Amino acid sequence: MPSKILVGTQWGDEGKGKVTDVLSSEFDIVVRCQGGANAGHTVIANGHKLALHQIPSGVIYEGVVPVIGNGCIVDPKVVLEELAALKEQGISYDNLKISGNAHIVMPYHKDLDEAHERKLGKNLIGTTKRGVGPCYADKVSRIGLRMQDMLDEKIFNEKLETALIEKNPVLEKVYGLPTYTVNDIAKDYLEYAKVLRPYIIESSRYLNEALTEGKDILFEGSQATMLDIDFGTYPFVTSSNCVSGGAITGSGVGPTNIDTVIGVAKAYLTRVGSGPFPTELPEGDAVGETLCEQGHEYGTTTGRKRRCGYYDAVIVNYAARVNGLTELAITKLDVLSALNTIKICIAYDCNGERYTTVPEHQSKFYEAKPVYIEMPGWKTDITKIKNYVDLPREAKDYIDIIERLSGVPVTMVCVGPDRSQTIKRQR
Ligand code: GDP
Ligand code: IMO
Ligand code: MG
Repeated sequence: MPSKILVGTQWGDEGKGKVTDVLSSEFDIVVRCQGGANAGHTVIANGHKLALHQIPSGVIYEGVVPVIGNGCIVDPKVVLEELAALKEQGISYDNLKISGNAHIVMPYHKDLDEAHERKLGKNLIGTTKRGVGPCYADKVSRIGLRMQDMLDEKIFNEKLETALIEKNPVLEKVYGLPTYTVNDIAKDYLEYAKVLRPYIIESSRYLNEALTEGKDILFEGSQATMLDIDFGTYPFVTSSNCVSGGAITGSGVGPTNIDTVIGVAKAYLTRVGSGPFPTELPEGDAVGETLCEQGHEYGTTTGRKRRCGYYDAVIVNYAARVNGLTELAITKLDVLSALNTIKICIAYDCNGERYTTVPEHQSKFYEAKPVYIEMPGWKTDITKIKNYVDLPREAKDYIDIIERLSGVPVTMVCVGPDRSQTIKRQR
């Protein structure tokens, strides 16, 4: 069984957690390669409902080894909270592995994330305030602390002292915030380390040895293509590479080990936080409200109401290109059952110029007006359908159009949040 990368094709919350869970039974290892506690992946299976931020969604499947790869940033407090939630639900996490090279989210990262957003005022990014941007910035500036540093008190304290020489003046003088001493942070973090120590490993070696033994790996993406630091709607993006390339650098597994790349796309579109969104429906629009309420479009991480709009084939087509997608999973098709007719954006009109791909300049993307085709809805409950052939003709036509416009075969269709509400499509 080959190894596979799973990525979000839109602005996040496509249902990556659910699709990862569905696919997990086919894999030995599920690894997260980028992002931190900004992710919110909801998995509903076997009577369990879990919202995971740091731990890979594969943890629910017994026998699957969950790995937090080197490209992730780790908030140890969040990891411990999630482990407690797993324990409460009777889910084992004994085989969890965390890369010693993954960077640690510190309290000052969260303070700076929040303070920076406040400073931006109305131009704020709308981050999840999980300290993601400041933590990745420190990684690149080479003043970050890594999970392996927590294993040695002396090293941890020395590196923290160096970091605080830079961080404290910024906290105090730029943002007027309280500063930290080494002890303020070390007293908690060295306690976290006592619990996390057994899970911290050299994960690239572990993953490559597993591949040599014939094991199969699923790389679970977080965030999504349009939130990618290079390919997304910069600066309204997250601070990591969420495209398929991030799975390589974030795991230490070479690209020649990857056979397939599955993109997850919601049957419509949502976004949390600021930034352009051509197919967004205005606040109060009846269709937008229906999508929000039927789709329960409230953030898993922050509880914020998600902005809702029609499916945008231009961005999924772009995602197909920048990720090298070999297949697509379409989620939340059931939510569209409420609509009489359904629109799909097939191109943008940017000041009279027609675009069928994401415009090369951000100001064009801002002014992009969607060009729609409109299709009849099916107005029937599809949540119990198990076989593709049994979907209403209009729903199959909708999937066919998505497939044609993306140029990527649709191999999975989700018709509800539960693991069982998944139609695998044999090609
Ligand atoms: P992720 O961040 O990509 O993992 O997505 P989230 O978990 O943040 O958001 C997706 C939400 O949709 C979750 O609440 C899922 O339980 C839910 N979901 C996933 N697939 C489906 C589906 O096919 N139909 C419905 N109705 N809900 C779904
Ligand atoms: P999952 O994995 C949706 C968005 C934030 C903000 C921007 C930057 O659940 O799909 P950050 O805290 O990362 O610095 O915020 O990115 N964002 C997400 N939106 N789903 C996510 O993750 C997100 N992670 C970050 O709302 O606009
Ligand atoms: Mg989410």
